[in-house]
Amino acid sequence: MSYPYQINSFEQYKEMYARSVQQPQNFWADIASNFKWRRKWDKVLEWDFNNYNVAWFKGAKLNITENCLDRHLEKLGNKPAIIWEPNSPDEHHRILTYNDLYQKVTQFANVLKNNGVKKGDTICLYMGMIPELAIAVLACARIGAIHSVIFGGFSAKSIADRLVNANAKFIITCDGAFRGGKDIPLKSLIDDALESVDFIEKVIVCTRTRTPVSMLKGRDVWWEDEIKKVETLGMAPAVAEEMDAEDPLFILYTSGSTGKPKGVVHTCAGYMVYTNYTFVNVFNYKQGDVYFCTADIGWITGHSYIVYGPLSAGATTVMFEGIPTYPDAGRFWDLVDKHRVNILYTAPTAIRSLMSYGEEPLKGKDLSTLKVLGSVGEPINEEAWNWYHEKIGKGKCPIVDTWWQTENGGILISNLAGVTPDKPSWATLPLPGVQPCIMDEKGNEIEGPGQGNLCMKFPWPSIIRTTWGDHERCKQTYFAAYPGHYFTGDGAMRDENGNYKITGRVDDVLNVSGHRIGTAEVENAINLHAGVVESAVVGYPHEIKGQGIYAFVIYNGTHNADDENLIRKDITATVTRIIGPISKPDKIQFVTGLPKTRSGKIMRRILRKIAENDVDNLGDTSALLNSEVVEDIKKGKL
Ligand code: WTA
Repeated sequence: MSYPYQINSFEQYKEMYARSVQQPQNFWADIASNFKWRRKWDKVLEWDFNNYNVAWFKGAKLNITENCLDRHLEKLGNKPAIIWEPNSPDEHHRILTYNDLYQKVTQFANVLKNNGVKKGDTICLYMGMIPELAIAVLACARIGAIHSVIFGGFSAKSIADRLVNANAKFIITCDGAFRGGKDIPLKSLIDDALESVDFIEKVIVCTRTRTPVSMLKGRDVWWEDEIKKVETLGMAPAVAEEMDAEDPLFILYTSGSTGKPKGVVHTCAGYMVYTNYTFVNVFNYKQGDVYFCTADIGWITGHSYIVYGPLSAGATTVMFEGIPTYPDAGRFWDLVDKHRVNILYTAPTAIRSLMSYGEEPLKGKDLSTLKVLGSVGEPINEEAWNWYHEKIGKGKCPIVDTWWQTENGGILISNLAGVTPDKPSWATLPLPGVQPCIMDEKGNEIEGPGQGNLCMKFPWPSIIRTTWGDHERCKQTYFAAYPGHYFTGDGAMRDENGNYKITGRVDDVLNVSGHRIGTAEVENAINLHAGVVESAVVGYPHEIKGQGIYAFVIYNGTHNADDENLIRKDITATVTRIIGPISKPDKIQFVTGLPKTRSGKIMRRILRKIAENDVDNLGDTSALLNSEVVEDIKKGKL
């Protein structure tokens, strides 16, 4: 497979970028013409950022799985599509060629149909990182069902909230998932979620850990039994459903600064074109390269850059079930060595964590196949960048620092490996088709070098279409702060050459180990603890995680009142129960009051400074209703 739209020089990047701004419709139409369509579009783009509405490739008909599978079979049928590496190095890895993947996806698509799943239904996937997760995702897309993958670190309550919001009728899960030394009882968590949800018609359970599970008659079925059924019936491979360009492909929940997580909706055509285009260009993928993205498919990075981007490009994508430090901190490097990985895409938090083990885990590992390194999810600090560059890339591999968000579908700002220059800790230049701008506090655009809030002036093909079931929320969240612009929620700096450096979130969203966490959500969970009166959650710099979660809590319970550590454990258990283990506070400080303005709003700015240990710079506290609490909070700082 060749990529006529692959950019090969800095000069060519500049030309393409200019064309993408001057003639966006022709630019994207040319790229889109390299895909398999059942019917071509009537119009490339329709958009309105004021009354938010966007449509790409309107009128086109396609199925994304024909682009990820069918079209590769003739030439790449025997090429590995997925190389799967299990959690334990003692278990054998699995290789699925494009032929194998096609067979499994079309077969499981039949299983879904046999179980009553129809085009337009939403299906929740709560599985570990096994090939069956990728198969299930693609099987949904094959028949036009909307998948909503939930990361394994979310609680039963979070699952239930998502099932209700997505109005899901079907669930695909596993008995359990192996992650490092742990065995996460996925089906049992689903059972807990279903205590409060009564509209689920079928739960399909795939065997992985052989953890005993309860199977409810009429509702729960085994994946393996269902496969046998379609085999016995001798069903032909499921034909791909014809989808409209703007039919929803998936929903993925993500946290914002207020309220419950929102279901970000991506649609078929634009998402396909953009993830493919960015995969091929950012990583400079060449046929034959082995590509390894260490993300989980429960997050957007896994959707776009383990499944859809690489597979639509006919690439070989490595999928890893485990964690970087199991059984030891050399596991990533074992994988690179064993599978001859050429492109490695991971997160700064993993790099920092592995860095802390020193060079011992690197000994004897052959990393010479590596050509390109990538970073995603949070700002990469220079120390981590340098270690990655020297120790892993041996000074010869470009590092792509890819900035983007769940709502973006694909990478928006990044250098292109070996094509445009890298700059440590800078995401550098926008991809062709992406038109960023920096706004000041008053909503005026800053020209030239400067710093402010990062917005987008023009849509790209995989921009969020809506928040599931609540379009108004989508408009308010992304298009209200700067009318006529998409607001990212991030701050950024721009240098004289047009390079961008992302400075982090400017709203109440934390980035903990590359996971997005809403402070309001964590506060709501803490406040559900019986003894808690009120709480405020902020982030603070954390050496490995990037940011840690710092909670200030007013407690008036009597139970365990003489043992603060016990209360802390109870509060942590409450958060784990309500949201999941990924949102556990790192620090809990008990306080007698929270600094408030006269209108009763918590002054987070002050709490943030205290959590960051920047107590000499609290600024003016005279506007506070209760400035006396600030001294007490400072004294009690953890
Ligand atoms: C942050 C992950 C700096 C940013 C793909 C963004 C980054 C949020 C980078 C989105 C980067 C992501 N440099 N910050 N290269 N990449 N971020 O939705 O704050 O899980 O808004 O998508 O991660 O997180 P999300």
